[in-house]
Amino acid sequence: MTTLVTGGAGYIGAHTVRALQNAKRDVVVLDTLERGNKKAVIDAKLIVGDIADQKLVAKICRKYKVTNVVHFAAYKAVGESMTHPMKYWQNNVSSTLKLLETLQAHDISRFVFSSSASVYGTPKSSPTTENEPTNPESVYAETKLAVENILRSLAIDGLNSVSLRYFNAAGASSDNKIGEDWTTSQNLIPRVMRALLDDKFKFEVFGNDYATPDGTCIRDYIHVEDLAVAHVKALEYLESYGKTTVCNIGTGKGTSVKQLLEMTAVVAKREVPHTIGARREGDPVSVYADVTLANKVLGWHATQDLQSIIQSAFTWHSTHPNGFR
Ligand code: WQD
Repeated sequence: MTTLVTGGAGYIGAHTVRALQNAKRDVVVLDTLERGNKKAVIDAKLIVGDIADQKLVAKICRKYKVTNVVHFAAYKAVGESMTHPMKYWQNNVSSTLKLLETLQAHDISRFVFSSSASVYGTPKSSPTTENEPTNPESVYAETKLAVENILRSLAIDGLNSVSLRYFNAAGASSDNKIGEDWTTSQNLIPRVMRALLDDKFKFEVFGNDYATPDGTCIRDYIHVEDLAVAHVKALEYLESYGKTTVCNIGTGKGTSVKQLLEMTAVVAKREVPHTIGARREGDPVSVYADVTLANKVLGWHATQDLQSIIQSAFTWHSTHPNGFR
């Protein structure tokens, strides 16, 4: 009963490996290390390779008696997906199809997929439920939705899956062993931390003239450790013969950029140096999750609040200014 974690040397993947181990599950990690880091894989077997290498995946499935798969391996930079679309279709979809074909050949029928709230594009309603019409606004988001659709159809063949639509994953491990690398992340929280800790870095708020209470965009920031546990819950659901489904994973609370800066100033005991710049193309005004389904079907709830997210990120970046490098 081993769980294969593809992309397990990445930010969310590495936290999920630890959540699986905490749940006393055997884990094996497959990662190319193209974007992941081997130091993020703690006390787990790491095999360096590609999910598209069907001979390698077959060998892993046999040797480790793989029964479950948690699939993270993908490119995830929205901006890059718009300038290198083929790279995203190849890696995120074509390689996933090769992985799925190999798993089917080995009768592996439980699959948890790392999807994204970006499949909603700019949702018409927040909190956003899983019934919100999908409207991907980037190639990255289109590849996530494409894999969800492939998984929905493979249920016919008996491959059961849970696609987890992440809202905004953030924070670092409570023991400060795993976190993000701000040189590779375009996301808000690593860049806020860099604004505090790297005086050469110029942090810009992308617009404060939105139709929100304080003029800045609203998002649902979820602690990466809570997000990791959702994958364990999804496996338990599939092991209890749960049917293929899709679940939002967030806190259900919306936080504006300004509110996040204020909370960060409390944690860091100093203001975050920033300027107000122009809006960023494609930014939805307000996106936060309705997590009723995950609560009910997976028995999963977020446990850590925004302060905990910011505190863990601040501790990590203060002690790891160069990430794992
Ligand atoms: C959050 C808010 C920005 C940086 C993206 C992907 C999504 C998911 C999470 C993978 C926005 C503002 C940001 C900065 C800023 N990734 N911001 N200055 O865009 O909500 O979601 O990452 O699944 O797919 O789309 O996250 O952290 O980039 O932005 O003002 O320097 O912070 O405008 O309002 P986003 P983000």
